[in-house]
Amino acid sequence: MITEQILPSRDRAGEQDDRRGDTSYADHPVSHVADAPHIAPVDLGNVHVQTPVVLSPMAGVTNWPFRVLCEEYGPDGLYVAEMITARALVARNPKALRLCRFAPSESIRSLQLYGVNPSIVEQAAKIVVDEDMADHVDLNFGCPVPKVTRRGGGSALPWKTDIFQELIHRVVKVCDGAGIPVTAKIRVGIDHEHETFMEAGHIAQEEGCAAVTLHARTTSEYYGGHSDWDRITQLVDALDIPVFGNGDIWGADDALAMVSRTGCAGVAIGRGCQGRPWLFADIDHAFRGETERVNPSLGEVGRIILRHAQLLTEFFDGDERMAVHDLRKHVAWYLKGYPVGGSTRKAFMECESLADVEREIDRLDPTLQLPAQVLNKPRGRVRFAKKVHLPYGWLDSRETTHDMREALFGDDPMDASY
Ligand SMILES: Cc1cc2nc3c(=O)[nH]c(=O)nc-3n(C[C@H](O)[C@H](O)[C@H](O)COP(=O)(O)O)c2cc1C
Repeated sequence: MITEQILPSRDRAGEQDDRRGDTSYADHPVSHVADAPHIAPVDLGNVHVQTPVVLSPMAGVTNWPFRVLCEEYGPDGLYVAEMITARALVARNPKALRLCRFAPSESIRSLQLYGVNPSIVEQAAKIVVDEDMADHVDLNFGCPVPKVTRRGGGSALPWKTDIFQELIHRVVKVCDGAGIPVTAKIRVGIDHEHETFMEAGHIAQEEGCAAVTLHARTTSEYYGGHSDWDRITQLVDALDIPVFGNGDIWGADDALAMVSRTGCAGVAIGRGCQGRPWLFADIDHAFRGETERVNPSLGEVGRIILRHAQLLTEFFDGDERMAVHDLRKHVAWYLKGYPVGGSTRKAFMECESLADVEREIDRLDPTLQLPAQVLNKPRGRVRFAKKVHLPYGWLDSRETTHDMREALFGDDPMDASY
């Protein structure tokens, strides 16, 4: 059992800015379509990504039903599954195995692995390779949640360059043989006194990663404030491999602005598409220089909710109850901003079957449109971390001692989640 080091959040200068208001785009100037930047296809090894627009992995969100909806709207991009805990995959935990499934329509099967122990992540990668589970493997070094960082995982790991390097080295070695490209998803660092992204990017490149995604916040910033796109520019300038920029793309214009401003090879979208899979259509149009944007009526949203519920039922092997329970958070996001009363929202939260969901959808006013002032605004988590939880003594050095390795790897979580 390792005792914990708790790092007070020092990156809180902009905390009052937790929720971006109407002027929130001032620091991310909006491009006009006339100067829409070009994004070229990206080859991750043998995997050709025609339009490098990425659905960023989100635990509890980017299972195959949601990915299918996003991909149907979006370009030939990369739609990444939520993180799979390596140890759970190695233990063949049924939940983890379910998360490894892909729909037949998915063009690139993209999995993300999470783990702290290089040997366990290597074993998980071997299962992925041996059982032909994916076409692409992403490695999670971005998770900020205490449950993960207090064990040295996610965004805490790049601080320990020896484990970080070994983990990537082992996974790339396993995947290389099968022609499966490996990428790494990182943050800026633990906080601004302990930044890791530049070194981590170089290590990832040297160890054979095909690309790096930078979520330009620190662990301590969690999901608060703004993603610092200048850090993306710095990494783009420093590395030869493609860098995907991530953080605060809420509308298609943000995607254009990120590429124009940072020169990143592609963009990764997280919270902006929660309850809005059509954001990928907007981004596709934007990169083609087209002005068309999707702004569905509530009737259309209702049809998407029903389809989502049906796909989730398939995902849960016909278990409608599990499906509609999983749907709840999505419904909250789908309805966000529409002038729909609390009793309607509550009724969706109480659904237990597809028939219940259908009944509630029928009760919605199909003519309602999303008010302009809530379009393309921040959604989902927007908070700073209260504290950063790290293994005891984690920040004392950049390398791990024998004792620390023992403590860490004897205590790998079976079921860490965001
Ligand atoms: C609910 C939720 C779950 C997430 N799960 C993962 C995950 O499994 N793996 C990962 O690398 N990042 C995860 N992230 C981080 C996102 O992929 C993304 O990096 C982050 O939200 C910043 O992008 P955004 O500003 O577009 O949301 C998660 C984020 C949220 C909000």
